[in-house]
Amino acid sequence: MEQALKQRLICVAVIDRVQDSAPLAEALLAGGLECIEVTFRTKGAADCIRAIRKSVPKISVGAGTLLTAEMVRQAVDAGAQFGVSPGFSEQVSNSARQNGFTLFPGVVTPTEIMQAMEAGWTRLKFFPAETFGGVSALKALAGPFGHTGIQFIPTGGITAATLPHYLALPQVAAVGGSWMAERKLVADQAWSDITRLTAAAVAATGSHPAG
Ligand code: 3PG
Repeated sequence: MEQALKQRLICVAVIDRVQDSAPLAEALLAGGLECIEVTFRTKGAADCIRAIRKSVPKISVGAGTLLTAEMVRQAVDAGAQFGVSPGFSEQVSNSARQNGFTLFPGVVTPTEIMQAMEAGWTRLKFFPAETFGGVSALKALAGPFGHTGIQFIPTGGITAATLPHYLALPQVAAVGGSWMAERKLVADQAWSDITRLTAAAVAATGSHPAG
């Protein structure tokens, strides 16, 4: 898990054709990024994870949009190395626990954060980040939760321009986003564009503004 988050950046991808999954992973690697979250929003998501694990083992692969316990099982079977859920569900959480699978459940409010903490999770997706107050919301949440060791993975509406502001916060483990490999770019097999956007995003992880 530390390996997956070491660059503090996760590319969130929607892959419509399984055959695009390995070239996408190669395009991200060419841009210097070693972590992808394949969302369970398409029928072939589990097969995409399998294909990337087999063909591009250097990249860490997570499964996103895990809405049910069954999706968690499919993600584990496919070889996903972590899971992400847009919200907090006890069924999804329990299924991840039973499978010994690391989950980043989604939260926004203090109540949801406390539910996820009670379930034993310490890294939480903060989604949709920009809509729910972005950097200033995370700073406010650091008041009651800063001493707990809880860390956040903000996702939703983040760009290369806003990424450094999130990464400047110590309570941010990593940032997730689709801007470097949007669904249409993947569907169009625009691998060089994806590599260029990824390289810019990776470069932006190195420049943290104060505060
Ligand atoms: C997610 O699934 O985490 C978000 O849809 C990604 O958000 P973004 O597309 O705004 O980056």
